[in-house]
Amino acid sequence: MSRHSLPEGFLWGVATSAFQIEGGAHEDGRGESIWDRFAATPGRIADGSNAVVACDHYHRWREDIELMRWLGVGAYRFSIAWPRILPRGRGRINPAGLDWYDALVDTLLEAGILPFVTLYHWDLPQELQDAGGWGVRETADAFVAYADAVSRRLGDRVRHWTTHNEPWCVAFQGHEVGAQAPGHRDPAESLRAAHHVLLSHGGAVEVLRRNSPGAEVGIVLILAPVSPATESAADRDAARQADGSLNRWYLDPLFRGRYPEDAIEDRVRLGHAQGPALPFVRDGDLRTIATPIDFLGVNYYSRNVVRAAPSGAPTVDPPAPERERTDMGWEVYPRGLYDTLVRVTRDYAPAKIYVTENGAAYTDAADAEGRIADQRRIDYLDAHIAQAGRAIADGVPLAGYFAWSLLDNFEWAHGYAKRFGLFEVDFETQRRRPRDSAHWYRQVVAPNSARDAEPQPLLRRMT
Ligand code: FCB
Repeated sequence: MSRHSLPEGFLWGVATSAFQIEGGAHEDGRGESIWDRFAATPGRIADGSNAVVACDHYHRWREDIELMRWLGVGAYRFSIAWPRILPRGRGRINPAGLDWYDALVDTLLEAGILPFVTLYHWDLPQELQDAGGWGVRETADAFVAYADAVSRRLGDRVRHWTTHNEPWCVAFQGHEVGAQAPGHRDPAESLRAAHHVLLSHGGAVEVLRRNSPGAEVGIVLILAPVSPATESAADRDAARQADGSLNRWYLDPLFRGRYPEDAIEDRVRLGHAQGPALPFVRDGDLRTIATPIDFLGVNYYSRNVVRAAPSGAPTVDPPAPERERTDMGWEVYPRGLYDTLVRVTRDYAPAKIYVTENGAAYTDAADAEGRIADQRRIDYLDAHIAQAGRAIADGVPLAGYFAWSLLDNFEWAHGYAKRFGLFEVDFETQRRRPRDSAHWYRQVVAPNSARDAEPQPLLRRMT
């Protein structure tokens, strides 16, 4: 049994994203995305895999909703694949794409599960990339038109919208270090990409409010506390810089309508921007970006400990050897979730917060009876949920928590080797099997769950 009791009405969910689970890459008129292209490029994905089939969720979605029903979660955070809706990124809408999500949303609602929709979880239509991608302003306009197409169709039923997932990843991983699609290594382009993503967010908020009156609209950021490796002035300054580029570069424009000055100066010093004004920022942009939102989504996995490289730029230390870490190499640091939630509340006062992702990659084999005892994942989730509860007790307006992830899936450049699922997926047979953590999470959410008294036939076999 779980020892957690969060406030009444607290929303428990699970999260996924389109590219990581859907597969069906060539079906019903879906266009190519930058992740299809990236995964097809030799050397980009650690295990040489791609997501043409992934979890085959495109065909197995009803079964996957049954898994959520069995868990008893109140919400499902998923993303929409832009290239299913607009195969070329803009222009002609593909009705089959909208139909698929329409059925998904209706079936979720029938199951008593709130659809928590993310519009952009990194799968930009390739044709938009060919025209400059997030490096050009036109992509922001295309995103707003895409948000319009989706919300015209689903806006009457979807009550929770997030525009973007982790703009930092799009900008930094995609355009600065090139570890993710489109794989560029151009810090100046990365700053433009961050700006255009944020700008497109602001534009979309207005459209979503119009097409989905009364719905909650927000954005999801990856946030992490940054601490200096030592108390030296150089390391403390490295921590300030890292916090500036990871956290404040996004929080400040969204909540204060300006980029952080010290972080701009850092970029100018590094030669990534000319300054003092960022040339790609036009009049009115920051007002658009700071359009009030109803909630902030926080993705939290770990913290960063940084030290100053000889150049003065921050470098991230690997976790100390005695610290527990997940298969991603990320330090298990539950306290960081509390610190992050408290800091965001204190410095930015969002109206509401959801933890939109939190979870751990671990591989544990099934025993002879098929039981998968993933105690480390349970411990990870348990400790983080406890910190979320503490944050609420200390005044953080936290309204929900989504475990990452429902299923093992295509973990971006890591391919299928990193397993985050409450359910194990056998990628040969597509069989889903609940890990112990799934059984455990079911107990956690139970007090707030509207789960059916009668399990469905499929699920009766699992219990
Ligand atoms: C986050 C991503 C999500 C998943 C987790 C492990 O940064 O939003 O898609 O890959 O990390």
